[in-house]
Order: sequence, then structure tokens, then C-alpha cells
Amino acid sequence: MIIYSYPTEAEAAEQAAGLIVEAALDALDSRGEFTIALSGGSTPRRIYEELADCDRLTDEMLAKTHFFWGDERAVGSNHADSNVRMALDSLLNPRKVPRANIHMPKGGAENLGAEALRYEIEIKRTVRLGSSGFPCFDLVLLGIGTDGHTASLFPGTAALDDNVRTFVDNDVPALQARRLTLTFNAINSASNIMVVAPGRKKAEVLKDVFTRNGKAPVYPIERVRGNGSNIVWITDAAGVSMFSDEQLEQFGIRN
Ligand code: 6PG
Repeated sequence: MIIYSYPTEAEAAEQAAGLIVEAALDALDSRGEFTIALSGGSTPRRIYEELADCDRLTDEMLAKTHFFWGDERAVGSNHADSNVRMALDSLLNPRKVPRANIHMPKGGAENLGAEALRYEIEIKRTVRLGSSGFPCFDLVLLGIGTDGHTASLFPGTAALDDNVRTFVDNDVPALQARRLTLTFNAINSASNIMVVAPGRKKAEVLKDVFTRNGKAPVYPIERVRGNGSNIVWITDAAGVSMFSDEQLEQFGIRN
């Protein structure tokens, strides 16, 4: 696992976009296709905008890239809170990505359980199987909440312990909401995992997560360990502002 820290959130977003392009080039070079599970929330918007403006990410590459979402809220894709809408607006529509390459979970579905199953089948139809027996995305992008959740895997929710499914609906009492989310089975089966966590808001949880010193996981994000995956964390000076110099050194946090 590598932790990159950049001076500002803007630089972190730019670097994250560059690493995504690198992952795409690797996958396209070795397999002729690139499968990515996008993260939701607000942080990735800058990354997607960087990708939309990135000359190194060519239309030819996008035509061989399949876009999925790691999670979605229980809202339609026109809703302001929709993760699907955010990625469509910031990247996929501006770059005119072919509709056949955009695999959208339907957060507005009446029956979220049935939609989770439908989407899981769509993932399995397109994303190759990994050695773990679960779909192996070339790259899964993740964020982190201040409670240590990632995707829509929130503390104390049922989806945390699902060892069978790839994609599920998940009740989140803390939000009084339901969500759709990849499970850890699918996240940890990915070739590459990128956790993007810039900003002072994430400093406490980042420090907690990295100073657990092997204790039993308490934060969902701690269960993102990969299965031989290449795991990269990207943050900024504000995000590591709670780390001592010794800890920056200890964790190999590269500025
Ligand atoms: C979501 C995300 C979620 C997000 C974190 C961080 O649907 O909200 O998938 O896991 O990554 O909540 O969100 P911010 O980027 O807004 O801080």
C-alpha cells in the first residue's frame, strides 16, 4: 500500500487522474479493455473533471473502457444527490462516452433488492472473474467518510458481512436511507484500488485508520485490504495534518 500526499486537494485530484490513466493504459495494453468502478460523494468530481480534460485519456481508450459505480444512493440519476449523475455531468457526458460502456445502477428503482441483483448480473457479464471467484475490476475508486465508511459500506450495516454477493442493497439507519453498494468481496478482488481522501475533514479518520497497529478493524475502510491488489491512497497536506513527522516517515507518506 502506498500513500501519496500532495500540497493541495487540486494537486491530489490531478495526480489521482494521472494514476487512473496509467491503470487504464496498463489494462488496455494487457487485455484490450479497462473496467472501473467509480466512487461517489463530492471528492471525485474534481478527479473526473481532470480526466475529462486529460489529453492522455483518448476517445479510443474511452471506447474500450467500461464504467460502473461502486455505490449509488436510493435516488434517480437526475437527482442532485445521485453518484451516477455526478459522473455523467463531470466526465461521461462531456467526453461522449458510448452509452454501451456506461453501466448505471438504478438508484430510483422501486425494488432496490431486485435492482442490486440486476446490477450484479450486469457486472458479472462484463467484468472478468478474479482468482477470488468475484469480478475483478481493473480499478475500484473509493472515498472515505468521517465514520470510516467506504462506498456505501457503513459501520454496523448488513452489507459489511456479506460474503456471497458482489453488489447489494444496504439499509443505513444512520442516514435513514437505503443504498446500493459493492461488497468487500468485489472491492478486494480488484486489480487496483485507489482511496481518495483529501481535506482536513478526513484527517482524524485517516490518522485513526493508519495508527490502528494491527488491532481488530473498527472502520469499514480497514477491511479494504485487496487480494493481491495494488492499493494506493491519495490525500493532501490537510488530510495528513494529524500525522507526526515520525508517522509520515513510518507510513512512507510521500509528499
Ligand atoms: C457516497 C460515496 C461515499 C463517499 C464518502 C466520502 O455515495 O457518498 O460513495 O462512500 O466516497 O462518503 O464522500 P465525500 O467525497 O463527499 O467526502
